[in-house]
Amino acid sequence: MNVLVIGSGGREHALAWTLSSSPLLGTLYCAPGNGGMADIAACLDIDPLDFEGILAACRTYDIGFVVVGPEQPLAAGLVDRLSEAGVKSFGPTARAAQLEASKTFTHELCARHNIPAAAYEKFTDADRAKTYLAGLPAPYVIKADGLAAGTGEVIAQDVQTAQGAVDEMFAGAFGDAGREIVIEEFLTGEEASFFVLTDGKSFLPLATAQDHKRAGTRDTGPNTGGMGAYSPAPVLTHALCDTVLTRIIRPTIDAMAAEGRPYTGVLYAGLMITAEGPKLIEYNARFGDPECQVLMMRLKSDLLPALIATADGTLEDIALDWREESALTVVMASKGYPGTYEKGGRIGNLTEAAGATGARVFHAGTARKGDQITAIGGRVLNVTGLGQTVAQAARQAYGAVDLIDWPEGFCRRDIGWRAIEREKNL
Ligand code: AMP
Ligand code: GLY
Repeated sequence: MNVLVIGSGGREHALAWTLSSSPLLGTLYCAPGNGGMADIAACLDIDPLDFEGILAACRTYDIGFVVVGPEQPLAAGLVDRLSEAGVKSFGPTARAAQLEASKTFTHELCARHNIPAAAYEKFTDADRAKTYLAGLPAPYVIKADGLAAGTGEVIAQDVQTAQGAVDEMFAGAFGDAGREIVIEEFLTGEEASFFVLTDGKSFLPLATAQDHKRAGTRDTGPNTGGMGAYSPAPVLTHALCDTVLTRIIRPTIDAMAAEGRPYTGVLYAGLMITAEGPKLIEYNARFGDPECQVLMMRLKSDLLPALIATADGTLEDIALDWREESALTVVMASKGYPGTYEKGGRIGNLTEAAGATGARVFHAGTARKGDQITAIGGRVLNVTGLGQTVAQAARQAYGAVDLIDWPEGFCRRDIGWRAIEREKNL
């Protein structure tokens, strides 16, 4: 079967790499792909939001299955459009992707179905939002309702900053995503990500992971798309995983089905492990990036039949095996990210770095011309190691990072720090 992966990030490179070893695979295509995906798939120069272009490619290349990586085409209805045209695909419909695309939708669903999440209020008016904030204790959590590439929220320590953020959101700082805003209770605890495949009825837990969203050491500084991740996340014990499945995941899948928008695809729960137990911070309708990279490093089974069974409603028949080892990925980004940065820097020594250390390098914002790889985005490489412990996986990943020749890039040096401190205390 010919398969098309939609997207161009490290997540999609990791998915493509995993799918490329499936015995069921004919030819692998990606749209638009990146410099690393070009090694293992035929890259088609089609925008993920160009639905008619994607459909035409499906016909031209006899594509039997489409795996949609990013949230924008899901929220815009790519899966709906493909299904109308008779092309099977992996991912939720637009109505189901509302779980990620609208924070108020998800809050209201959680409230209706008694799913533990942060308390919230929604606002369409700046003055009312600011008055409400004035009556709350610090810190303050303010979020644009819609999709904002993981940066649509502000956590403010004082009420003036919080009220300023409200004004900026209503003034269009996040475009249409900020027409409606949500003010949430600030949750304290440790964060973790939990992933399940679901066909709308049954679900299959994947693995746990933890990512590092902030640009600076010890998770400080501005929010980013994610600067690194590791799996498993030791904070999510078996008992906590059971609680997450019974209190959060199962009721969500049932509620979506009961409300006429069955959810199929991967459901990614961003959780806070609070003193009162796990609470939902957000849902995403796709794999995490860079969490997907560490999940794929640990997956032993063939991914393709699991994704097809998710689309077909036969997930009950699938089981997946995982490596016991830990995986850890370090994001190398262009200096300046998540602010402004230069493009076009040449990256050298990639093959040597991976060869010498056994680490795997997934590409994100790269382009290939002949043998030369250049940086064309903010997050550029995901250098990924595997080890008996998180500390060992980190040593392998950083060993490769240190061999890569890219003066215009930077990375955090402390990915996995919480888990590594836990391991020291064992
Ligand atoms: P989100 O925009 O929902 O993806 O949130 C981004 C990050 O902001 C999360 O990963 C948390 O670190 C933090 N965050 C979001 N909501 C809350 C909350 N209610 N309480 C504490 N931290 C939060
Ligand atoms: N790593 C965070 C995300 O994919 O949203």
